[in-house]
Amino acid sequence: MTGAPVVELDRVGRNYRRGDEEVHALVDLSLTLDSGELVALVGPSGCGKSTALNLVAAVDRPDRGRVTVCGVDIATASENELVALRRRSIGMVFQAFHLVPHLTVEENVSLPLALDGRRDPDRVLDLIDRVGLGHRARHYPSELSGGEQQRTAVARALVHRPRVVVADEPTGNLDSRTGAAVIELLDELRRSEGAALLLATHDARVAGAADRVCELADGRLVGRRS
Ligand SMILES: Nc1ncnc2c1ncn2[C@@H]1O[C@H](COP(=O)(O)OP(=O)(O)OP(=O)(O)O)[C@@H](O)[C@H]1O
Ligand SMILES: [Mg+2]
Repeated sequence: MTGAPVVELDRVGRNYRRGDEEVHALVDLSLTLDSGELVALVGPSGCGKSTALNLVAAVDRPDRGRVTVCGVDIATASENELVALRRRSIGMVFQAFHLVPHLTVEENVSLPLALDGRRDPDRVLDLIDRVGLGHRARHYPSELSGGEQQRTAVARALVHRPRVVVADEPTGNLDSRTGAAVIELLDELRRSEGAALLLATHDARVAGAADRVCELADGRLVGRRS
């Protein structure tokens, strides 16, 4: 599959209903990502960043337009197809981490592999080391700081070598040194494994590492810089 972008959003709209009011979370958003590309979504709170990431991560469907991820049309795919796509091809770092509380760091990071019937303990421990949590591998999320939980979520998103990684504020809770280490890890991943990375961020360093920065306001793309 050469040539086709890994991720393609074509005039995408997503509305939410809030009581009587209709919120236009995304309006006419078009965006593509190739293998190995890092694109940053920036813009004020409420501009639609998480909404866009959820569509690319195949955890939500568009109301208008087309979202294609690894050749799968997110609007029309069956629930089973979306599950398979998420398990094999997508890594997601949620804004609120979503670690499983009764699993250790090591077990949380292994989870995407386990869900797909796979095991790779060396890869799991290597990633845990690379996010600086070697000494916390047997700890539970409740025993970790916010930044440590975030780094666990980053390791978990990468463990199954996804073709697409979607990360919502991946450095939001990190000091500048661990933030830089996480950016380096994501950057290395796209170079060594050719993953396409879509990140929502307020962090100028993350945006600085991106190939392209897409700026949203009120659900619309208002700026683009390379
Ligand atoms: N489940 C929902 N129901 C109703 N409205 C929603 C829902 N999720 C998001 N919205 C609204 O859609 C708009 C876009 O929200 P979104 O979460 O995508 O913003 P964001 O750019 O990620 O903001 P932040 O930087 O604060 O994370 C906002 O106006 C928000 O209130
Ligand atoms: Mg958000």
